[in-house]
Amino acid sequence: MPESGPGAASGTPPRARIIDGRAAAAGVRAEVSRQVAALAARHGITPGLAVILVGDNAASEIYVRNKRRQTREVGMRSFETRLAASTSQAELLGHIARLNDDATVHGILVQLPLPRQIDERVIIDAIAPGKDVDGFSVINTGLLAARGTGMIPCTPLGCLLLLKQHGGDLNGQRALVVGRSNIVGKPMVQLLLRENCTVTVAHSRTRELADECRRADILIAAIGRPQMIKGDWIRPGAIVIDVGINRQSLPSPAGPREMLVGDVDFDAAVRVAGAITPVPGGVGPMTIACLLRNTVTAACARHGIDPGGLSG
Ligand code: GUN
Repeated sequence: MPESGPGAASGTPPRARIIDGRAAAAGVRAEVSRQVAALAARHGITPGLAVILVGDNAASEIYVRNKRRQTREVGMRSFETRLAASTSQAELLGHIARLNDDATVHGILVQLPLPRQIDERVIIDAIAPGKDVDGFSVINTGLLAARGTGMIPCTPLGCLLLLKQHGGDLNGQRALVVGRSNIVGKPMVQLLLRENCTVTVAHSRTRELADECRRADILIAAIGRPQMIKGDWIRPGAIVIDVGINRQSLPSPAGPREMLVGDVDFDAAVRVAGAITPVPGGVGPMTIACLLRNTVTAACARHGIDPGGLSG
């Protein structure tokens, strides 16, 4: 354990700083609210976010409900298109084309997953790149990789904001991203490179993952396996960002209990890390907050306005 590590001075067992994602997300939303108010007052613009939900996936229903509520709370317009699970790809493309042409819509999000008859990639790439507030399209993926610009996917953006708040200077730090998904792992790698980290990406086929983890000053866990990353894999003092949201049935005195757990064994890791995000209450709340932020970014870009100039 480093001498300067958590708890070192008091002689109490070391414990990492817990990164409060709910508080950070509230801060992002407060900033978005100020920008939305300034856009209305100075430019007569109200950003609009359109969400398309196909089918009746229960988890998606909850996400969409939360997005609608938070969009309205920050003063933006919320549009929703609900389509039957049997909707064809052509029909869905028609809805996207209509929203692409609608000047009151600045951001479009098609809730994933989509029913089997629809090719997700075709749908994502049909969204106008300037309205692709998920940042999943090939254009935005390419802009981030090649130029460090474009719309940044919400979850990795949320992780970066937490890292910047809690990780100090990121320059030259050794970062490990565990997971190579298009939604989290790959864009996270690009963002950390942009911050001048030395980045390694690990995945399900990586050999000696524990050793890779032990070298990391920054560990991003986005592999989708409950509590896979053990406490003794963590470098003492490291900053750990746990993106995993896994449902698990755990024993309790009152019988088995459904709980959300991350990809990191939190109870063990908290004794070793310098700072760590909990699950729930860490990265999760940042995703929708960053979606709102991206919608303001999209509205500003559309009208040639600098979002930074709206905050003063
Ligand atoms: N489903 C679960 N998370 C997401 C997300 O971030 N964006 C979209 N479009 N669908 C999702």
